[in-house]
Amino acid sequence: MTERLEDIAQQMVQPGQGILAADESTGTIKKRFDSIGVENSEENRRDYREMLFRSQDAMNRAISGVILFEETLGQKAADGTPLVDLIKSAGAVPGIKVDKGAQDLSLRAGEKVTEGLDGLRERLENYYKQGARFAKWRGVIAIDKDRPSEGAIRANSHALSRYAALCQEAGIVPIVEPEVLMDGDPGDHSIERCHEVTEHVLHQVFKDLNSQNVKLEGMVLKPNMVVPGVNAAKQAGPEEVAAHTVAVLKRTVPSAVAGIAFLSGGQSDEEATANLNAMNAIGNLPWPLTYSYGRALQAAALKAWGGKVENIDAAKRAFTHRALMNSAAAKGAWNKDQERG
Ligand code: 13P
Repeated sequence: MTERLEDIAQQMVQPGQGILAADESTGTIKKRFDSIGVENSEENRRDYREMLFRSQDAMNRAISGVILFEETLGQKAADGTPLVDLIKSAGAVPGIKVDKGAQDLSLRAGEKVTEGLDGLRERLENYYKQGARFAKWRGVIAIDKDRPSEGAIRANSHALSRYAALCQEAGIVPIVEPEVLMDGDPGDHSIERCHEVTEHVLHQVFKDLNSQNVKLEGMVLKPNMVVPGVNAAKQAGPEEVAAHTVAVLKRTVPSAVAGIAFLSGGQSDEEATANLNAMNAIGNLPWPLTYSYGRALQAAALKAWGGKVENIDAAKRAFTHRALMNSAAAKGAWNKDQERG
């Protein structure tokens, strides 16, 4: 019997839990490994991810789903256990990144469109057989003085909605991720500009999801938070970020959407936690707000691991600490003192 999309989506955004984005492509994980001087071999990628998925406390208490790269979906732990089984036995849902990455958008210098729709129906069928019950597709929108163009917004939004419909047809919950970037060149835009662009993008995305018949109860939105550019002269604290982000989401995201799981996008670990906490502290929101972080969940663990077997316990502790801090933030129950725990 196939599980209902709504039930899978509810499981992904259950109270106090969130999603671990461990779906770095082989090229992206190379950048992460380069930063700690570890060779980007298949075995190292496996060992690192196995360490995360075997962090029992974090996985049981704070992680409801894990986004995997295709290689990991079929990979086995050192003792032969499929990594997907480790995730399932911790009560989390295995998911899969299905997009083929952001490519240059033609005739639109400096803008990207995410590709991967061709053959996606067949790929989803296989991913389902391999145990994936949700998927991710990320579209990226860059901000500068002349961007984003309406053309880039429409192209990305259209692809996201086509992807989401194909997922639901296959019994897979789509994570719809339209990311308005906080970095980029020059990356000095204000929080107000991020607010304006994010609001516009999300309006378009929900218009397109509707036109493709996507069932809102069976999807999860993965947006950026509304923040100033990384190089902006004026940065913003958690209350300001929370007020802008919640205002934009209330204007654009129907309350039928199962939940909202943010990306971290280049925020520091503690910023990503504090901002999420401030939003949940507002209370009375129509959807659960949680995390689907990559860097902000993994950075400390990656550093503690450093590619060495003898550091695995320390890396698990670092990951567990970060996951539990975010779990508290998803309930609006985090404070800075807990960071010293
Ligand atoms: P970050 O949290 O590092 O932005 O990654 C989340 C993600 O899945 C990007 O697609």
